[in-house]
Amino acid sequence: MRVRPAGAADLTAIRGFDPFGGDRMREIAEGRCLVAEDGAAVGYVSFRADGCVGHPFVTYLAIAPSHRRRGLARLLISAVAERLGPRLFISTERGNRAMLALLSVEGWREVGEIRDVNRSGSAEVFFVKTFGARAADEATAAVV
Ligand SMILES: CC(C)(COP(=O)(O)OP(=O)(O)OC[C@H]1O[C@@H](n2cnc3c(N)ncnc32)[C@H](O)[C@@H]1OP(=O)(O)O)[C@@H](O)C(=O)NCCC(=O)NCCS
Repeated sequence: MRVRPAGAADLTAIRGFDPFGGDRMREIAEGRCLVAEDGAAVGYVSFRADGCVGHPFVTYLAIAPSHRRRGLARLLISAVAERLGPRLFISTERGNRAMLALLSVEGWREVGEIRDVNRSGSAEVFFVKTFGARAADEATAAVV
């Protein structure tokens, strides 16, 4: 499995499993999309360096149903953290059990929610995580 920047040629594969509205053309054109590739793209993450009140933000993340529970979401998020980190924000709908489970297991901290933004009626919940060396420094600082 390889993670690499997405290209226009990945759009067809992405459309095959993308549950989100619109398409990822703009993110791809602007270099803000990575794919996990297993022959073809089987997962993607898109991001904005200033997407959450000026801070790095994961905008969309989706893994093909055939490739879930293999660590691909974790891998793609780590790849974004390497590029934009160490501190990332992310959000998901309050009813998204898979994503909420992932965020909990991976140590993301809930920082707030916005109501009345999703068509489903559920709130959008925001999380933050500090990756890598700085996270370790902060943990050490917290116990000293
Ligand atoms: C949510 C989503 C991105 C997870 O992708 P994934 O590649 O399957 O996640 P990972 O394999 O990296 O999971 C890492 C950990 O998160 C937790 N997790 C992930 N999916 C889970 C699920 N459906 N139920 C319970 N825990 C889950 C598990 O602890 C998992 O580790 P494990 O498989 O070793 O137990 C995927 O289900 C998806 O694309 N859903 C549709 C789109 C979406 O909801 N995107 C997120 C909104 S931004």
